[in-house]
This record gives sequence, structure tokens and C-alpha cells, in this order.
Amino acid sequence: MQTQKKIKDLRQILRTARSQGKSIALVPTMGNLHEGHLQLIRQARDRYDFIVCSIFVNPLQFGENEDLATYPRTLEADRESLRSEDCDCLFLPSVKEIYGDGLELQTMINVPGLTENFCGTSRPGHFEGVATIVTKLFNIVQPDAAFFGLKDYQQFLVIRKLTHDLALDIAIHGIETHREESGLAMSSRNNYLSEQHKEQAANLYRCLRSCAEQIQQGNTQFQQLENAAKKELKQASLEPDYFQICNADTLQPPSTDTRQLAILGAVFVGKSRLIDNIRFQR
Ligand code: PAF
Repeated sequence: MQTQKKIKDLRQILRTARSQGKSIALVPTMGNLHEGHLQLIRQARDRYDFIVCSIFVNPLQFGENEDLATYPRTLEADRESLRSEDCDCLFLPSVKEIYGDGLELQTMINVPGLTENFCGTSRPGHFEGVATIVTKLFNIVQPDAAFFGLKDYQQFLVIRKLTHDLALDIAIHGIETHREESGLAMSSRNNYLSEQHKEQAANLYRCLRSCAEQIQQGNTQFQQLENAAKKELKQASLEPDYFQICNADTLQPPSTDTRQLAILGAVFVGKSRLIDNIRFQR
């Protein structure tokens, strides 16, 4: 596996791969790779010829009081994992390489309609930061496809929309969330949790599943279901940020005959904020 730190060197390698007729897939990450990320690499490996994984802790998507400084950085272990998954190229740019003119002067990508609620409310500016770095990575790599985890479902929809709206010719693949045995969704931020907090955190997915089951059994009292779930989360010592049933495509409130539903949840546990979701048809 080669590592490239400069855009121009990466482009050179990609030109060669393309001239050999290879299809290219990109797996954008912020590193601290866990089994969920490795699933993305495997799925990309199965379908495309040349796999680029980027590791870049993107300062533009962190708020002022968030964990940019302490975000887990485990480069040597990440490199080892990528090698064992047969990734072709690690793109490891510096902040200067990506935002050479400074963060304040960076042209931003705004994706209206999907970014106002949920994590968009709790983390102002977050999705502009994500949309901007992803668009930039898409333009640098110009991949045939890109792979994202569905744990960040709102992020996945934002990226799918920007790809469509900007007429980018890139297939966007969403890969199912990888979970611990307890049901807890794998996340780099789980590293912040004690064993006790991990046990508590598993209740988020339990509440999502139980709410989805009740809807599938015919309950359409969405608000009551949301309130009951929030009460249960509190009883499990989780502080709900949001827990909301919505239309899985638009993230708007569902009507009683919306078929494709998603329930999005975010909770605080200890010092961490965790998100998860469940999607289903009714
Ligand atoms: O999901 C992530 O790890 C990040 O938001 C992404 C997509 C790599 C952009 O920095």
C-alpha cells in the first residue's frame, strides 16, 4: 500500500491506475479505523479495482467546543489495518495541503433541506464542513464510487444530495452499521466511553428497535412513541439530544402513510455524544 500526502502525487498515481482501465473507489475517513470502516474497505475492494482510503481529521466540521484536539489519532494501527485489507493507497493530507489559504477563506458547500435539523441543529456548521471536505476529496480523487457508513445517516443523505445536485458522476454506497454484540454502533467516539457508559449507551439502539417494532405493529402515534423512548433513555442514564421518527428520504416528519421511515437518535453519555438510527419499511 502506498501513502500519498500531496494532492499532485495522488493525482499522478490515479492517472496511472485509470490508464490501466482500473475503476477507482474512495473511502473517506477521519482515521481511528474500526471494524465498521474495514467493512467499507472490504465492500469497496469487492466491487472496484483501485481503493483509496483518506484519513483526514477535518477541522472544518468540528464546532468550537468539540473534540477536534482530542479526536483519537492512531495512524500506525490504521496503516496496518489498511494493509491487511489490501487497500491500494492511503491519502494522508495535512491541514495545510487541504486548506492552504486558511479555513476562513475556504469556499463552503451548503446542502439545504437536509442539514437544518438533528445534528445540523446541535452542531451548527458541521454539515457545511462535511459537505465541503467530501466535495474536495471527490474532486481530488474523482472516484467512480465512494463508500460511507449508514450510522451517520443524515451525513449519508447530505452527501448523496450534494452528489446529485452538483451532477457528480460518483456512485454513493451506504454500508450498514457495524455493531458490538450489545447492539452499540461502532464509532471512534466509543473510545471515550468507560465499560459502564458502553453498557448504558447500548440502550439507544434498544430504544430505536423497540420504537420501530411498535410502528411496524401499526402504532402511528409518533409523538407519543418519541416521548416514551426519550423517557426510557433517561431512565437508562442517557440524556437524549433528539429522538425522532421521520421520512427516511427527506428527514421531514412522516405522515401516517409514509412507507419508508427512519428513526434518528442522539444521546449524551458521560462527556460523549453518540448517534444512531434505524431505517425500515412499513
Ligand atoms: O464520517 C466521517 O468520518 C467524516 O465525516 C467524513 C465523511 C470522513 C468527512 O470528514
